[in-house]
Amino acid sequence: MDLGIKGKVALITGGSRGLGRQSALALAHEGVDVAICGRTERSLSSTVTEIKKLGVNSLGIIADVTESADIGSLHSEVCESLGAVDILVNNAGGSLSREDIEGTSLEDYKKTFDLNLFGGFELMKLVIPQMKENNWGRIINIASIYGREYGGNISYMSAKAALIAATKHSAISLAKDGILVNSIAPGSIEVPEGSWERFQNENSPDVVEGFISDNLPMGRFGWPEPLGDLVAFLASNRSGLITGSCIVIDGGQSISMI
Ligand SMILES: NC(=O)c1ccc[n+]([C@@H]2O[C@H](COP(=O)([O-])OP(=O)(O)OC[C@H]3O[C@@H](n4cnc5c(N)ncnc54)[C@H](OP(=O)(O)O)[C@@H]3O)[C@@H](O)[C@H]2O)c1
Repeated sequence: MDLGIKGKVALITGGSRGLGRQSALALAHEGVDVAICGRTERSLSSTVTEIKKLGVNSLGIIADVTESADIGSLHSEVCESLGAVDILVNNAGGSLSREDIEGTSLEDYKKTFDLNLFGGFELMKLVIPQMKENNWGRIINIASIYGREYGGNISYMSAKAALIAATKHSAISLAKDGILVNSIAPGSIEVPEGSWERFQNENSPDVVEGFISDNLPMGRFGWPEPLGDLVAFLASNRSGLITGSCIVIDGGQSISMI
């Protein structure tokens, strides 16, 4: 299937490792020029090298999505070097604690929103004007099954739920402008140096087996390639009628029916 996005420009936050890296490679396979950001140089430069081997332009920028100043300079650097952003993937995110309301400080709660929501919100506001002018744009926000149903800790669940809500609201307000806005809700996907790899290293085989048998119907953790393919499809010209959706990719892990 030709996805019809060769020559477009994508920006993927947290694109140096994990699901962001996989999304970057999937878009590069489709001929998209890809900018990625992260906080550390080493993984950024090795992923940029991988992307360039696929024959597209790429740029790695050190930027922390929790810093407003970084967001502005990230956006202008991408526009200057690769051109206006056609495809934005707000992927940087994660969990900062494991607590319920009683164990969570307001400060940690806010920090989780900074990481999972506010940086992405600012980037959406920066890319929308040019997308509107082009009457074409794709925004994909990486949420979690725990933004749709109970699970994880209070801060992460709240921030991802808010990200899904912001996605839905933006999708409806931008639907007439050729801009599709969707979120993706992954289940537990194992990536190198990621949280599920750490979970397996830090717990006994019994605990890991127990988690898998209680939570993962496929009997294994998820793997990143299907998520990269989903990002590429949602970013493409073939997804024209999909906007405002939250697409679950979890091997049957979530309990919710909708
Ligand atoms: N993997 C899963 O099972 C799973 C499940 C549900 C949802 N998700 C969501 O999917 C997204 C990616 O998860 P992942 O498992 O691929 O994570 P990961 O392996 O920890 O990778 C995170 C990426 O984001 C970058 N990053 C982290 N903090 C950042 C910041 N403040 N500013 C800029 N970049 C930052 C990291 O690079 P640096 O460390 O160098 O900054 C790295 O490139 C997250 O939003 C996560 O909540 C993941």
